[in-house]
Amino acid sequence: MKITVIGSGYVGLVTGACLSEHGNDVLCLDVDSRKIEMLQRGEIPIHEPGLEEIVRRNAAAGRLRFTTDLAASVAHGTVQFIAVGTPPDEDGSADLQYVLAAARNIARHMTDYKVVVDKSTVPVGTADKVKAAIAEELAARGIALPYSVVSNPEFLKEGAAVEDFMKPDRIVIGADDERAVHVMRSIYLPFQRNHDRTLVMDVRSAELTKYAANAMLATRISFMNELANLAEVLGADIELVRRGIGSDPRIGYSFLYPGVGYGGSCFPKDVKALCRTAQEHDMDLRVLQAVEAANDVQKMRLVHKVTARLGENLAGRRFALWGLAFKPRTDDMREAPSLVIVNELLSRGATVCAFDPVAMHEARRILGDRIDYADSPLAALAGADALLVVTEWKEFQCPDFERIKALLKQPLIFDGRNLFDPLAVKEYGIEYEAIGRR
Ligand SMILES: NC(=O)c1ccc[n+]([C@@H]2O[C@H](COP(=O)([O-])OP(=O)(O)OC[C@H]3O[C@@H](n4cnc5c(N)ncnc54)[C@H](O)[C@@H]3O)[C@@H](O)[C@H]2O)c1
Repeated sequence: MKITVIGSGYVGLVTGACLSEHGNDVLCLDVDSRKIEMLQRGEIPIHEPGLEEIVRRNAAAGRLRFTTDLAASVAHGTVQFIAVGTPPDEDGSADLQYVLAAARNIARHMTDYKVVVDKSTVPVGTADKVKAAIAEELAARGIALPYSVVSNPEFLKEGAAVEDFMKPDRIVIGADDERAVHVMRSIYLPFQRNHDRTLVMDVRSAELTKYAANAMLATRISFMNELANLAEVLGADIELVRRGIGSDPRIGYSFLYPGVGYGGSCFPKDVKALCRTAQEHDMDLRVLQAVEAANDVQKMRLVHKVTARLGENLAGRRFALWGLAFKPRTDDMREAPSLVIVNELLSRGATVCAFDPVAMHEARRILGDRIDYADSPLAALAGADALLVVTEWKEFQCPDFERIKALLKQPLIFDGRNLFDPLAVKEYGIEYEAIGRR
């Protein structure tokens, strides 16, 4: 099938690459010419495990191409996936300008039937806006052409995006016409050969499903963060509590890890946008408002532990930071807790030396020379007053505690991800503060 993917970011590039891997002829469009030039040279602008091989292989086979040519992108695909960003507007609602610009561009250039697929995370009612935008542009051209608008929200996780796309838990298709459902089913057939995981529903339910999923996951995180903070004052250990509740099949183990708050390009903006959608209908989503407020507080949790131990004034102090990405296996630092922590430490007069396995480039872009960068976890420790663990990268899990102790000015670790066994760390004579641990 001939497919166009509009927006070549984390979602668009993975979507395009994985669709081409199954033999489709895919053209990826982006308005960012720097990104497209990189892709045309065979360079991958983001870090996503497994993506580079797929892009290289399919680009070499001629099934995956990249362009900034708007007209060519519309001419190429019968199916046009919109995977552009939907950042938060000033009032917290999703900013739809990129989605609608993409829709209008399709309408300006189309000459035959198109299936327009909203893959970006968009509020309920967006498909209607996309439909209206296309109708308006076609009317301006004085022509009538057939088209369908489908909602196909994406559930991939950064860091495991290729795997998630290749083996999806479910494929949600929101559509109100059979022709489009048939096209969408045939696109996803190769991704679910052992059993059908497609859920076909009306467009509005599909749009809401994506927000409901992210809101639920964010809720679990904020819930556990608050319980962890409570466990600390009660003298309980949240890790034991986590296992105690996770063993209940109604609850399960996933997303019950306390830490320094959720970040990334999805949860913060999607929780905000869903609250905003409710407010537009004179409703308050009180649970989600609390989820967001609890998360804002949690991002400061590690700094509060630092100031409780070392004093409010951190002038002259130096901190080693392990992890900058908002989660492991990605270089994405959008809304990362590390940014809140770094800014707070700097504003209190401290200096920071950070290491991240893949986000150093992104960190330099965002933080510039406001912090120092180390080329290994241990190198970040030299002369630091304490180590702060901010992202749960696997490579941080079994460190050489003797070396850590020797390199730090004083043996002190603030672990925002509960990576280590408190008793084991203490045996090395290192003071250890984690989240909700005894
Ligand atoms: N990142 C994730 O893990 C994830 C997961 C599921 C859903 N989503 C959703 O998918 C959407 C995209 O997210 P992302 O992380 O891939 O964003 P991103 O910022 O990485 O990529 C978006 C791309 O769209 C391009 N773009 C903007 N306007 C364009 C236009 N008119 N034509 C062509 N290209 C255009 C941008 O230049 C950018 O490269 C968002 O709605 C997001 O909420 C993201």
